[in-house]
Amino acid sequence: MTRFDNLFQQGLAGFAAQGRMRACKQWHAAGPGLLQHPDTGAVLVDFSSNDYLGLRTNPLLSARGMAWAQAEGSGSGASRLVTGTPPQTMALEQRLASLKGMEAARIFSSGWQANASVVPALARLSAQVTGAPAIIVADRFIHASLYHGCAAAGVRPKRFRHNDLAHLDTLLGQESGDGLKIVLTESVFSMDGDRADIEQLRAITLRHNAFLCVDEAHATGILGTQGKGLVNGQADLVVATFSKALGGMGAFVAASEAVCRWLDNTASGFIYSTAPSPMVLGAVDAALDLLPGMADQRAHVAGLASAFRQRMACAGLDVGLSATQIVPVVVGAEHTALALARLVEQAGFLAVAIRPPTVPPGGCRLRVVFHAHHTEAQMEGLAAAIIEGVGACAAEMKG
Ligand SMILES: Cc1ncc(COP(=O)(O)O)c(C=O)c1O
Repeated sequence: MTRFDNLFQQGLAGFAAQGRMRACKQWHAAGPGLLQHPDTGAVLVDFSSNDYLGLRTNPLLSARGMAWAQAEGSGSGASRLVTGTPPQTMALEQRLASLKGMEAARIFSSGWQANASVVPALARLSAQVTGAPAIIVADRFIHASLYHGCAAAGVRPKRFRHNDLAHLDTLLGQESGDGLKIVLTESVFSMDGDRADIEQLRAITLRHNAFLCVDEAHATGILGTQGKGLVNGQADLVVATFSKALGGMGAFVAASEAVCRWLDNTASGFIYSTAPSPMVLGAVDAALDLLPGMADQRAHVAGLASAFRQRMACAGLDVGLSATQIVPVVVGAEHTALALARLVEQAGFLAVAIRPPTVPPGGCRLRVVFHAHHTEAQMEGLAAAIIEGVGACAAEMKG
């Protein structure tokens, strides 16, 4: 208890009054794709995490992580610019660069950190070299970390309508300043599971001489040839995370050698942060060994998601434009999404409700995510629980 707690309690009461209080729940891994409550022992099938390939509990990853820790230490001690980089980290960065069809890569401690520091680093280039502020044009649905990067850069992004590339073209055409034009988007959108048209983005950004940055957090490992994602070298910079299909934590930026050397000198999340643990990087190295051989798992996940979309559509439920392993079931109001998530949880499935500010008001949803460990029976069970739950919510509103 401190003398400031009263202030914090007042602030928290504001969230409670809006029904928007967030809190961490206790669950632990109870086997592949399963979560268990430590007190009640209740087991849920996990349809919420981003562990698309089920790699986070793969023993090969933990063994390689241990081996790297035994060789180099459990921590890395300092920023790489202070104590240098082990050769295997350099080699890992080369593997990551070629995964994305780029010349070079730099590893960051998280995707949030990479996005939040890459945008100001690019904006600084504009100010330093062109003498004019950067012009940032972003898809409205980019991740919070990219918005944070814009705020840290002191640049207010111009936003194009979600995946509306004609709108992007128009906004870029209206810019005549000397500043570097930077386009921010994602190849797979985290809350909608739809894809961006990379080829078109490439063509538009080339026409307007704009620098294209694509966040591939939700494509890497799970989509594209051998899980390489959707960009295939067709962007100026790619951010991808280890925290989702790769089953670990951390992230990387892949780009040209010159861009990466610029980041070495300007990306504050790279310069002023201790390098990720060798334990974490060893696990990433093992995940990269596994990716090319996981075509069956990727096809299984795609098949489950597609069958689930059909179940939802037959029941008249809205799954938006999902075309990936992420399938939103959009129900509209916050209280409906919360009630539905509770009913689904009682049926043994974790599919959390997503609400503003993560999605626009009125767009509340269950975000359903498919993993390689899921069975058809689990998918059918979840679909039935959602359809029944939606019926129960509707009946309650009528009654
Ligand atoms: C699109 C996108 N980018 C970046 C991040 C942040 O990645 P990390 O969890 O590694 O910080 C996320 C994670 O939620 C994401 O969905």
